[in-house]
Amino acid sequence: MTLAKSFISAIGLSAGLHFALGQSQVPLAQKDSPQQPNVVFILTDDQDVRLDSLRVTLWTGKTPHNTNVTDVNPPYGGYPKFIAQGFNDDYFPVWLQQSGYNTYYTGKLFNAHTIKNYNSPYPGGFTGSDFLVDPYTYAYLNSTFQHNKDEPRSYEGEYSTDVVAEKAYGFLGDAVRDLENKPFFLTVAPIGPHSNVAVGDLSLGQTHSAVFSEPISAKRHQHLFEGVKVPRTENFNPDHSTGANWVLGLPQQNQSNVDYNDHFYRQRLRALQAVDELVEGLISRLEEYGILDNTYVVYSSDNGFHIGQHRLQPGKTCGYEEDINVPLIIRGPGIASNYTTNIVTSHTDLAPTFLELLGIQLREDFDGKPIPVTKAGIEATEQTRREHASVEYWGIAVSEGAHQPLYRQHNTYKAIRLSSAEYNLYYSVWCNNEHELYDMTADPGQMHNLLAPSPSVSNGTLVAGLPIEKVVARLDALLFVLKSCRGLSCREPWKQLHPAGDVNSLADALDDGFNGFYENEQTRVRYEFCADGYIVDAEGPMWETHGLATPYSRDGAIWEEWV
Ligand SMILES: *[C@@H]1O[C@H](CO)[C@@H](O)[C@H](O)[C@H]1NC(C)=O
Ligand SMILES: *[C@@H]1O[C@H](CO)[C@@H](O)[C@H](O)[C@H]1NC(C)=O
Ligand SMILES: *[C@@H]1O[C@H](CO)[C@@H](O)[C@H](O)[C@H]1NC(C)=O
Ligand SMILES: *[C@@H]1O[C@H](CO)[C@@H](O)[C@H](O)[C@H]1NC(C)=O
Ligand SMILES: *[C@@H]1O[C@H](CO)[C@@H](O)[C@H](O)[C@H]1NC(C)=O
Repeated sequence: MTLAKSFISAIGLSAGLHFALGQSQVPLAQKDSPQQPNVVFILTDDQDVRLDSLRVTLWTGKTPHNTNVTDVNPPYGGYPKFIAQGFNDDYFPVWLQQSGYNTYYTGKLFNAHTIKNYNSPYPGGFTGSDFLVDPYTYAYLNSTFQHNKDEPRSYEGEYSTDVVAEKAYGFLGDAVRDLENKPFFLTVAPIGPHSNVAVGDLSLGQTHSAVFSEPISAKRHQHLFEGVKVPRTENFNPDHSTGANWVLGLPQQNQSNVDYNDHFYRQRLRALQAVDELVEGLISRLEEYGILDNTYVVYSSDNGFHIGQHRLQPGKTCGYEEDINVPLIIRGPGIASNYTTNIVTSHTDLAPTFLELLGIQLREDFDGKPIPVTKAGIEATEQTRREHASVEYWGIAVSEGAHQPLYRQHNTYKAIRLSSAEYNLYYSVWCNNEHELYDMTADPGQMHNLLAPSPSVSNGTLVAGLPIEKVVARLDALLFVLKSCRGLSCREPWKQLHPAGDVNSLADALDDGFNGFYENEQTRVRYEFCADGYIVDAEGPMWETHGLATPYSRDGAIWEEWV
């Protein structure tokens, strides 16, 4: 869910219907095995699976409301806020080093990690690092990298993803040379297929004139995909507006806008070709080094992307399926081979998943839990159902294309994406207290908001054969717990409502015996007002057992201007 990016205020949690693919059948690593497995983690930017997580969530295993890094830029987020919250000496790469791993990173780490603040302090936890830094992070043809403790260096005229690839191969070589002493964890985070972002002339003081445009491909790929268009799904530029809040007010796009969006889509596909080559380059090198069978290769993206669905201009920051459903592909020792699953996970689960794969102790305060990756583990989970992910977002929405490059205020909402054998639902509450519910079995495109205040939705509406009020009461109670959960209560939210442990899913909670409990006794989720960050007064009633979930309260996030 979650949603990250450049100069936008985005945060959230990338929910995902994730899938695992694998090859070898070697047993999972033993904790004290002499040959600890390695990891190569490839993290793309804005890649959807249909067509934001924040990276702090990804690297801490905590939901945004528990890190209070709820944006990609200050004052509510970005690298300065990550530092101010005290995470730099207590997060994933640091834990890996403490467990004996060499850690390498190249590409984008955080937004608002810049040519000015890269050394105040340096990101903790890396044996070797070469980060893309703002304001040139998304300049495909003028990327600027900051290596270890060196000064930033510009790669004007070179193609960003190719530079990342060369750096990744270099770190892989370093890692292999030290493999007798230590296993490694290498993260490779190219910007593709993110939009290109050009900044103004800094020497003229144009620090805030960032312009988003379609991604740029490597020259060798610019002829590909001629004539390809955004899939014309039911929700593509529909005749009637859909969604809620500002989305519901969007005008239908005219032909030149649609043509531009098709071009934008092709540029994304072209930009992904260099990423494809990077993946192949990594795999073939792992093979040459003879370590492919003892290395997990994990591929994902920080959030999805929409182009034209619900009449939206290119961008993310929404809770709809295009934005929150991201790819997750895993191969390595013991991973189920050629196996795809629809169990629901989120990026909050990735840090725990990596630790479990490597036999490293999980942390009590993780909000996420390990994703099963073996065939038996996945099958068992499919039986017990791992069915929901929470989505949280604060701040503004940004349109990244050439049209209507507007910032939309009040894009603050919370949501639940729930998918099981019986139910396939998306439920959201916006900061203006508009609600959405989509029954995605009947309505995969999320075209018909069953909670719209319109006469077409009547009291008789059924969701999966049940009265809508009955289903909504359960979803709302679950969201109410999730919005301020912490640790165990995030991992086992139904237990907060049913301490006896007899309810573990929506299906269980729908038992008629609980009608009174859910329909009359629970406090409903509501906002007091729309805020751009996790402001307590805006958040409405909170689940009482937990109070506020803000373990990190160090003050002083400082946003340094780039110049
Ligand atoms: C989160 O941080 C913001 C400043 O970035 C602060 O105003 C807010 O009170 C914090 N929220 C909580 C719940 O501590
Ligand atoms: C490229 O980036 C460098 C900073 O790394 C900057 O000094 C230079 O002006 C940029 N070039 C262009 C054409 O924007
Ligand atoms: C099409 O829509 C875009 C975006 O709203 C607008 O800028 C443009 O002027 C429109 N073009 C025509 C021909 O109406
Ligand atoms: C993977 O599974 C799919 C469908 O189950 C099958 O069609 C395909 O042949 C399999 N591929 C391999 C390499 O086993
Ligand atoms: C739905 O039904 C309830 C009572 O069953 C009634 O109070 C309410 O006005 C109805 N709402 C609509 C929109 O018909």
